[in-house]
Amino acid sequence: MIFVASGGIAVADDGSGDPAAVKQTETGEWLDKEGNPTYKINGDTVDWYTYSGYRRYHSDCHVCHGPDGMGSTYAPALKDSLKTMSYADFLGVVASGRKNISTAAENVMPAFGDNPNVACYMDDLYVYLRARSNEAWGRARPGKHEDKNDAYTKNEDSCMGKK
Ligand code: HEC
Repeated sequence: MIFVASGGIAVADDGSGDPAAVKQTETGEWLDKEGNPTYKINGDTVDWYTYSGYRRYHSDCHVCHGPDGMGSTYAPALKDSLKTMSYADFLGVVASGRKNISTAAENVMPAFGDNPNVACYMDDLYVYLRARSNEAWGRARPGKHEDKNDAYTKNEDSCMGKK
């Protein structure tokens, strides 16, 4: 949803509330004031999670959900879904999957909870799609990005089962 303040300044809001980044964690992840993961984009430079999420999205989700979160005839545009979907709901659907039984065609969202290529990158995916949903990032591959830091790499390795 976009609220237009009396001064004429558009303030973005989405399924998780105000996406403004207020704090950065040790792994380089930005959080909003509610503590939900969010993006931090300065000009054409994105945070590591947005960049990583872009890459993960285009390896594991775009076949069904279309490039850049734009949707397809098979699966919804996630750039729109996140306008109303909370972070918790996102995690739930991606981990457990969902089957659309309301239409004649059975469109299935697979469960990715046991797939480390997705499960280890839930926040990255969410952050990228949140940026798309608020039009903070367009239909382009992020070029410049913050570096992946050591704490992120450590978490990633342990999640992926490396020592
Ligand atoms: C095999 C095709 C397929 C793949 C791959 C896939 N999805 Fe889905 N996804 C779907 C379908 C179909 C739906 C709609 C299901 C329904 O209507 O209940 C869906 C629904 C969703 C929803 C709920 C959207 C809404 O508006 O309620 C989210 C969130 C989602 N997918 C995220 C992802 C993410 C993230 C990935 C990549 C890790 C992914 N999906 C990969 C097919 C897929």
